Amino acid sequence: MSPCIHPSILSADFVNLEAELARISAADAVHVDVMDNHFVPNLTLGLPVVERIQAVSPVPVDAHLMIADADRWAPLYADLGIASVTFHAEAATAPIKLARELRARGSKAGMALRPATPVEPYLDMLTELDMLLIMTVEPGFGGQAFLDLTLPKIRRARAAVEGSGASVAIQVDGGISDSTIARAAEAGADVFVAGSAVYGAADPGEAIARLRASAQEAGGQSAGARSTAG
Ligand code: DX5
Ligand code: ZN
Repeated sequence: MSPCIHPSILSADFVNLEAELARISAADAVHVDVMDNHFVPNLTLGLPVVERIQAVSPVPVDAHLMIADADRWAPLYADLGIASVTFHAEAATAPIKLARELRARGSKAGMALRPATPVEPYLDMLTELDMLLIMTVEPGFGGQAFLDLTLPKIRRARAAVEGSGASVAIQVDGGISDSTIARAAEAGADVFVAGSAVYGAADPGEAIARLRASAQEAGGQSAGARSTAG
């Protein structure tokens, strides 16, 4: 799969969201961070704003729900008709039931893991997911430094996805930039969230193209190495 770049609007100007969305029309999707000040110590936006983003966005919407009681709230985001809804494993009581519910409502089903949450307990449910989000910072804020300690987990997740035969994207989120994206791609990630690296750039379109090219190069080399080894 060729790498996808999902800019996070957490680093955009919240008063001019429509114009900010237009600046990333070269992206594969827009990443929308929903925070409730319970699951994470920060508050952003909720259903009504995501509904308006969905209405005006030039690219598909990828919602990342950093909210408690995901079983109750995540299906309502899928009902907005957005492309993909990602809930946190730590916030869901019945992740398999929830993933099925998201798909039944027409969204792709994503599940996120905080940096210290192991992937192993969830490997048997990979076929229920369209995307696994491995957080590469503690969720809650943009602009944090990439945690290299998550790289082995990305590698283990990639090996498990290949072994399962399921088609599950591996998304990374947090601290992705020109200097870290190659490491994440080499480990096996194929969907990259970037907030400050895209919206902090003078030309977001150019930043997206540069990130995509770096991921392509590093990911292509490691996929080649995996298939030769395998
Ligand atoms: C953090 C959010 C991220 C954030 C990434 O909790 O989930 O999506 O916007 O921002 P950067 O790319 O600046 O680390
Ligand atoms: Zn996010």
